[in-house]
Amino acid sequence: MALEMVRVTEAAALSCAQWMGRGDKDSADRAAVESMRERFNALDFNGTVVIGEGERDEAPMLFIGEKVGKGTGKAMDIALDPLECTDSCAYGRPNAMSVVALGPSGCFLHAPDTYMEKIAVGYQAREAIDLNKPFETNLQQIREAKKMKMEELTIAVLDRPRHNDLIARIRKLGARIRLISDGDVSAAIATARPDTGVDVLMGIGGAPEGVLAAAALRCLGGEIQGKLRFQNNEERERATRMGVKDLDKTYKSDELAMGHELMFCATGVTDGELLDGVRFSREGSNTHSVVMRLQTRTIRFIETFHHYHSGPE
Ligand code: FBP
Repeated sequence: MALEMVRVTEAAALSCAQWMGRGDKDSADRAAVESMRERFNALDFNGTVVIGEGERDEAPMLFIGEKVGKGTGKAMDIALDPLECTDSCAYGRPNAMSVVALGPSGCFLHAPDTYMEKIAVGYQAREAIDLNKPFETNLQQIREAKKMKMEELTIAVLDRPRHNDLIARIRKLGARIRLISDGDVSAAIATARPDTGVDVLMGIGGAPEGVLAAAALRCLGGEIQGKLRFQNNEERERATRMGVKDLDKTYKSDELAMGHELMFCATGVTDGELLDGVRFSREGSNTHSVVMRLQTRTIRFIETFHHYHSGPE
């Protein structure tokens, strides 16, 4: 199944990468969605999209509730983002990737497409975070857990005006900041990977991205906490409709992505923190993917060459 999932994200990445830098995010997204769906439907499994492109009336395919696969075998829930960082692909910026997380029915929080306040760290600091405490307290505790000086700690933050106060407070403490234009899934994962130079992800990003990051961080032994942030009553009502009972709850990783049979898979579209992007040549194309399984605690990096020709010309 792990290799099958790699084929799914590879197919999506190969399709949308052809739109890199062409300034047309809708076409890039559509290409990724169509290829991902086609590949899913060739598989012998019984999948239900629980985090997808939106609700049925707003997304023609890979919508929430859509069944994918041939309908045989064990029922699985799927959280997906065929093109995480659509803008990055459309404008040739870093960190665009195609992402799928998978697990038994009921394993993912049915997060609505709203914002989520997040904090994510790797293994060493997993016990040191508490989203309900001030940022400053969290950073002190993380610093102590990682045995680092405050000025050595690097915090990834999405470069958005809503983070001006957070950024000022981090600067006041003396920690370093890596501002990212997009892509808090790969930034969250970077906190739990060696030698990325990112210790913490903080701030407000997409809620579906929070669930995807939770699946990966659980496989990596890291931790993410998230709290839904609504912009209006309509968003609150949508969350309730999707089954969220406590709208003010702070979720831990194992409440965002539950159980022990989780899998996370991603293929790079543009070059990024975690993965290189798709390369095209006359002979074929090259993809870089990662597939993680919680049960076996394996993290596999897979480089694939997709030949255009079946043999030498
Ligand atoms: P998309 O895949 O929807 O383009 O999301 C990219 C992203 O940067 C996410 O990684 C992040 O969670 C979200 O956007 C932040 O939302 P916003 O751009 O509205 O600040």
